[in-house]
Parts: sequence; structure tokens; C-alpha cells
Amino acid sequence: MVRFLTFAFLLHPLAFSATPTFSKDVAPIFYKHCVSCHRPNDIAPMSLLDYKAARPWAKSIRQAVSSRKMPPWFADPKFGHFSNDPSLATTELQTITAWVDAGAPEGNPADLPARPKFVEGWQLGKPDIIVDIGEDHQIKLGEDAYEHFTVETNFKEGKWIRAAEIKPGNRQVVHHVHVLLVQDDLKLMEVASTTNSPALSKFLVREGKLTRIRADAPVVNDACVADVPDLPFLTGSQEGALASFLPGKPPDTFPAGTAKWIPPGSKLEFVVHYASTTGKAQTDRTSVGFYLASGPPEQVMRRMDLRNFFLSIPANDDNHMVRRCFDFQDDRLLLSFTPHMHYRAKDATYELTRPNGKKEILLLVPRYDFNWQLVYRLQNPVLVEKGSRLMVTVHYDNSSNNAANPDPKQVVRWGDKTEEEMMTSWIEYLDAPGPKR
Ligand code: HEC
Repeated sequence: MVRFLTFAFLLHPLAFSATPTFSKDVAPIFYKHCVSCHRPNDIAPMSLLDYKAARPWAKSIRQAVSSRKMPPWFADPKFGHFSNDPSLATTELQTITAWVDAGAPEGNPADLPARPKFVEGWQLGKPDIIVDIGEDHQIKLGEDAYEHFTVETNFKEGKWIRAAEIKPGNRQVVHHVHVLLVQDDLKLMEVASTTNSPALSKFLVREGKLTRIRADAPVVNDACVADVPDLPFLTGSQEGALASFLPGKPPDTFPAGTAKWIPPGSKLEFVVHYASTTGKAQTDRTSVGFYLASGPPEQVMRRMDLRNFFLSIPANDDNHMVRRCFDFQDDRLLLSFTPHMHYRAKDATYELTRPNGKKEILLLVPRYDFNWQLVYRLQNPVLVEKGSRLMVTVHYDNSSNNAANPDPKQVVRWGDKTEEEMMTSWIEYLDAPGPKR
């Protein structure tokens, strides 16, 4: 028995090199899970590519991985499996902590794996078509701004696209970007571009290019009640953006056999959030690249957006609930969820009720963090039957306990500014089962 235990111990990967080293054991983990952000000129504060750069951070790395703060991922592992879950395996976590506990030795540099290669510029390669915002936009110092740019595609024929990549013109100031399809056809505008929506506009206040809901607009925090008022976008869904750029999010590549349609004569609306700049004034010229599909797809890739514009969060409330439901009129295959709120959001739950009454949680984000606008891609698409109901429940902390809260004394309503709030979910889906259309 003793013999057997010794043998089993020797089989454990850490047992062979009792002390893990950076070169042999840790670098492969960093290359796989960390350096997409932790490299020079990307979003993370320090590079983890080299021993020299990583070594001073050893203690902080131990803390960040043990607490699962890094790599950033917020889905509760009890619900759903996601294909883009970057979390460390337990053995990888143990290797890192053992390395730090042993004094974070370098080991033999000859053991280093090949350095990962990074693509500069377009991540998906040269696009077939590039459309930009049409100007070198000046960003004023100290300004946190949402800008809308509407530009012509000049497409004489419609295009099927298999991918779309947004390239920020200036990574220092561009926080996130959405590209929406706008058509002069009112019906499409109504669904696609919220800020151009005639139905919503009487409830909106515009300040320059920023929009918010009027302080005296009706209040509906729970849009899942049976007698939900007839207000814009509290039921049904809105057509989602063509593409989005968010911190840490890869470009929008649609699954094999699917594509999105851009009708002829479409305009594109770029919605760009510029994070406040300090230091010197900056300019930006953000663009979107389209990658054409070889022909009509088997399935049209779709995205619906669910919003509750009529939320109202009381001052100092540390657990305010806002809800939005969607009743499925057709069978659909759900592919991904992206919750989007601002500084005061705490959590988000996506719960499906099947026509037979069976409930299941598709995604639970127990600790929402505005800095990370993550997409949760379902490992296996979820088939949802007609007659099912999806309920999205979000809680906000508008108290002083929330360190990110800009002002607990404010009653908070919907607005573009990060200091105001949103309640949005983007859901990618396919029609199911798939007749050609
Ligand atoms: C998607 C991008 C991304 C990935 C992947 C990522 N990080 Fe980070 N990391 C960041 C950013 C941005 C920050 C600074 C903001 C913050 O702390 O949230 C950060 C901060 C840190 C910090 C400082 C934390 C603190 O408390 O100050 C450590 C340590 C760290 N990361 C380690 C890692 C390690 C180790 C990995 C891989 C196992 C990793 N990160 C993966 C983006 C990333």
C-alpha cells in the first residue's frame, strides 16, 4: 500500500519537477491564458510574456488566479457550459501557486515554449470591405462621450457576411463600439437603431449626441408582469447590432454555415464610446471590416436585443431588481448571451421556462463588472421551443457599498452615459430547425 502511494505521488505532474519554473511550467500557462491581454500595448497593465516583466508581479498573480479574478470570467460554473470560458484548470492553478510559493524561479530559459505570435491590425486578416466613421474625430480632453456616426455603405447589391471586425482607430480612447444597420425604411429603423426610434423618442432627452430617458417617463422595473404597460420595447425584441467591439472580446465570426445579411443601400451607424482622455487631445477613425460569405448561408445568423428602458433605481437602494422577459413565437437555437449594464449592476440571471413549465438557468453572472463586457457562448446551442419564456433578472446596487457607484444620492434611469444605467441583453440565435430562406 505504501509502495502504491509513493508511485501515485510520483505520477503527479508536479512531483517530477518539485519546483515549477517560469520557463518550463508557468510560461506555457501564461501564453495560453494571459498574454492575449498581458503583452505590451494591450489592455492589461503589465506584460506576462517574459520572466523579467512577470517576476515582480508574482504575489499579485498568485492572488489574482487563486481568487479567480484572472483570467476574467463571471459565469457561475454551476449553470451552463461556455465554449469561450478561459478559466484555468485546477492543475494549472496549482502550478502557478506552487511556483510563487517556491520564490518564483526562472529555471532554464532553454525550456521556454515558442513565443506566441500576435497579429497586428486586422485580427481576421484583410477584410473584403472596409467602412470607417468618415472623419478623423477629435476627442476633447476629460470627456466621456458616446458618439454616433452614420455613414453610407454604397452597396448596390446586398451582401452576406461571414464575419465582421471592428478596428478601433485609437485604442487609447475607444472603450467600446457597436455597428448597427440603418435603413431609411422606418420599420427597420424602429427595430435597429434605438436612438432613431420614433416610438421611443418622445420619452428621450438628447444632450448633444448623448441620449437619456426623461426623468418623468413612466417607470416599469418589472417588465415580466402579466399587465405590462404598452411602452416601446418592453416586450418583443429589437434587432441587434451587426458587430460589436468590447474590451477582451474577439471579432464577430459567425458559425460555419451561417451568415448575416446587409441589404443594398444600407447605412451603418457607428456608436462609439470614448473613455475620457487625460494628457493630450486624441483623434480617432474607427472602422469596420466585412468578410464576405461565399453565398447564401444555410442559416441566417441573428441577434436580438432585449432592453428595459423604463427602469428607475431609487437612491441608496442596495438591491434593486429590474426584469425583462421574452416570449418565443418560434423555435430558436440560442448561441450566446451578452449582458450589458453600467457601474451599478450587481448580477444577471437568464432563466428559461419551457412550455411544460420546466425551468432552467442558462446563465448566472453573480458578480457583474462593467469593466468586462463578456460574451458567454454556449458550448451546445440551446434549442428553445415556441411558447417558452426567457426571463432576465438584474440587480443594481445604488448604495455607497458599491465602490464603483458614481453617486448613491441619484435616482438612476436609462442613459448612454456610464453614470446612468442600462439593462440590455444581446442574444445570438438561429431559427430552428433550419429551413433555407
Ligand atoms: C481578457 C484580458 C485579460 C486576460 C486574458 C488576463 N488578464 Fe490579467 N488583467 C487584465 C486587465 C485589463 C487588468 C487590469 C484591470 C483589472 O485589474 O481588472 C488585469 C490585471 C491583472 C493583475 C493585477 C491584479 C490587481 O489586483 O492589480 C494580475 C496579477 C493579472 N491580471 C494576472 C493575470 C493572469 C495570471 C492571467 C492569466 C492566467 C490574466 N491576468 C489574464 C486583463 C486580462
